[in-house]
Amino acid sequence: MKEGVTTKSGLINEFVREFVGVVPADLLASINASIEAARHEWQPPDGRRASASADQFADALRLHDAFSAMEAQVCAAARLWMGQTLAREANDAPIHVLRCVGPRMSAQSYLRHFDSHVLTVLIPLQCAPDGDQNGDLIVHIRRSEPLAPLMHLITKAWLFFEHGLPFGLRRALVNSGFGMRHCERIRCEPGNAYVFNGFVTLHHNLHVAAGERRSLIIHHYDAGLEARLRTMLRAVRHMRDRFAGYS
Ligand SMILES: [Fe+2]
Repeated sequence: MKEGVTTKSGLINEFVREFVGVVPADLLASINASIEAARHEWQPPDGRRASASADQFADALRLHDAFSAMEAQVCAAARLWMGQTLAREANDAPIHVLRCVGPRMSAQSYLRHFDSHVLTVLIPLQCAPDGDQNGDLIVHIRRSEPLAPLMHLITKAWLFFEHGLPFGLRRALVNSGFGMRHCERIRCEPGNAYVFNGFVTLHHNLHVAAGERRSLIIHHYDAGLEARLRTMLRAVRHMRDRFAGYS
């Protein structure tokens, strides 16, 4: 953490930490103005864009002491967790994603997932009008340890199947008593940052019924589990092909 800089933070729950006022109001306004100005240039169907402008917004945030101090603090904690839990060194560069979602993007809601990175910093830029369906983040607070690789693969396969279901069915499934057990809604406030370990925390967003919800998301430190699973699957396929060749 930078010397002399303190950030006001608190735990929303065991899994999500809120850092209050780390995004200056004038920068927030200028980021939103840039998004408005560039509106005609992009309309990704999924509302997401990993782009030069997302990189620029993140870089602009890092010029502010409160934000950079917060990021340094949470990155240090994530590197420690990764070393202790996954026995991996974290040194990859962050990924910046701009997410702008409106009512016509129902395909982007109720997608329960784990992130492939261990640290997710969510920076709300603009909220949709308050209501039941305002795109809020929902976190499933069931566990704090990574799944074993095989279980991770099975869970991913199920979630992949679930993501392919029609919106109404997917929403009903996720909203069912089983799906929403141990869930918590995170009500985000522009100007703050929300930090969690998306690698072990299952999460999804509600639908946006009106307006537009905008977020900048910074992912730090790829856990590498999916790369390892791909390597494992390649090895299994290679062995199977060798045996098939001998038979
Ligand atoms: Fe995520």
